[in-house]
Amino acid sequence: MCGVSARVVVLVSGAGTNLQALLDACADPSYGATVVGVGADRDGIEGLARAERAGVPTFVHRVGHYASRAEWDKALTASVGSYEPDLVVLAGFMKLTGEAFLAAFGGQTVNTHPALSPSFPGMHGPREALEYGVKVTGCTLFVVDAGVDSGPIVAQASVLVAEDDTVDSLHERIKIVERAMLVDSVGRMAREGFTVSGRKVRFGS
Ligand code: GAR
Repeated sequence: MCGVSARVVVLVSGAGTNLQALLDACADPSYGATVVGVGADRDGIEGLARAERAGVPTFVHRVGHYASRAEWDKALTASVGSYEPDLVVLAGFMKLTGEAFLAAFGGQTVNTHPALSPSFPGMHGPREALEYGVKVTGCTLFVVDAGVDSGPIVAQASVLVAEDDTVDSLHERIKIVERAMLVDSVGRMAREGFTVSGRKVRFGS
């Protein structure tokens, strides 16, 4: 990935503020990455609108439009593959990718999660951290594997939990550090390359 701008496909399911942070970073050629396509599992979301405003092509595959989850996964894999990505970024993508996707893009797909792995995997990281009563939580960028938020960790950033936090206030503060973590790490992966050895991820080739 070193040298020319790395081709990045981003998958989203919602507001797309992490996508926006990447789009903004990619506007600087020295960042070393370009978002070449944005995909989603649903229509009508701000994440897709952000891509369209940036002139980035989009695609949507809804699980319900396919006979099976495996068929959906194959269609998603084909669309992502049509952009010939160096790196795939799941940025608030609320679906687990399947076998076909992992076969094609395993080792070159990262996901951002709003909790400090291995704590609180799944869809409700901020809520579960708050309910558990932790004093520190945060976010994790990891290389996607077949598990739920379980892959080798690329980066983490911490956030203090405030006594009066709600799920929303905590998640919004996590998202501030999450965007910075994502932009920093994706830029480094694009410019320096990265290696995965067991559970250890290192920048550089
Ligand atoms: C982010 O906090 C991301 O970590 C989380 O959804 C949010 C998306 O925000 N993803 C998950 O919880 C996946 N398990 P965004 O749409 O504004 O980028």
